[in-house]
Amino acid sequence: MSKITAAITAVGAYVPDYVLTNDMLATKVDTNDEWITSRTGIKERRILKDADKGTSFLGIKAAEDLIAKRNLDPTEIDMVIFATATPDLPVAATAAYVASSIGAVNAFSYDLQAACSSFLYGMSTAASYIEAGRYKKVLVIGADKMSSIIDYTDRTTCIIFGDGAGAALFEPNEEGFGLQDEYLRSDGIGRDFLRIEAGGSLLPPSEETVANRQHFVKQDGKTVFKYAVSNMADASSKIMERNNLTGDDVNWLVAHQANKRIIDATANRMGLDDAKVLMNISKYGNTTSATLPLLLNDFEKQLKKGDNIVFASFGGGFTWGSIYLKWAYNS
Ligand code: UT7
Repeated sequence: MSKITAAITAVGAYVPDYVLTNDMLATKVDTNDEWITSRTGIKERRILKDADKGTSFLGIKAAEDLIAKRNLDPTEIDMVIFATATPDLPVAATAAYVASSIGAVNAFSYDLQAACSSFLYGMSTAASYIEAGRYKKVLVIGADKMSSIIDYTDRTTCIIFGDGAGAALFEPNEEGFGLQDEYLRSDGIGRDFLRIEAGGSLLPPSEETVANRQHFVKQDGKTVFKYAVSNMADASSKIMERNNLTGDDVNWLVAHQANKRIIDATANRMGLDDAKVLMNISKYGNTTSATLPLLLNDFEKQLKKGDNIVFASFGGGFTWGSIYLKWAYNS
């Protein structure tokens, strides 16, 4: 019997309609379109404006898009992994609500939180269950309502993040397509440089934490940038070396969209032409857990069966890594 690999067999996505442009942000904080564009590559981002909707709304929409495109019976889904840094509620898995809402009534589900690497780690988890022969249809959803944890008076973070969601279905493959190799890492040193200080067990919410704006994301951008550049490039080149891939062999880089300069540096280390680097950061900014599946969905038509794709991400924690996957279908 041939080896079972875990292939992506369908993707879907959703972004809210409301567009927050650089010029709009420049009316709220001391910044400008030129600075944001040249330092990050971002022109605009999407924001979920409805006060009564959480991240589950985005995830449900992305999953429904996948289900409709693929004509999938949701009762066949065995497992839903909901990758997010912004769950609807601190306790009560958002995954369970999403799975029930999309009709995945035979699935079990849980949330996976690894900041901007949540989706990448989720791919690894999904693939492991499939390769083990345990489950046949695993849905990984990456979704974040970043606007719920962003301080729109802080110009060092509010220009970067946006809201969005994407989804990918993993299924067994016996022709060698799907996930080939992974190199995943984490380092707790990162906790000091990118975090939300309050609201967890270490510093529960209080009037003081609210007054001190400690429920918003804070980052030391320069330090995070340095770690992101070296670690994302390292992980991607390691995965290439381990699989004897040269820049010519790689068809696409699907990298976390945090900053265009970080993505360019990674592509450069890998020896890739710009044309092979999938990029949509200008439209959405950094959507945290949604960046990778949003890229797959936006560029789905260009991906061809057998294409070699290198995924890469870096995020809070720190968490980072790279995955090598062979694309399994033509759309
Ligand atoms: O996805 C999770 C991982 N996160 C990341 O990967 C983010 C990594 N970091 C970054 O992308 C970048 O560090 C930022 C985009 C956050 C900042 O870019 P930078 O080139 O590292 O800028 P900087 O922090 O070194 O600041 C340069 C200057 C400073 O002014 P002075 O001290 O040189 O006078 C800042 O005060 O730019 C100033 N500045 C701004 N100016 C206009 C900082 N933010 C802004 C702004 N508009 N929004």
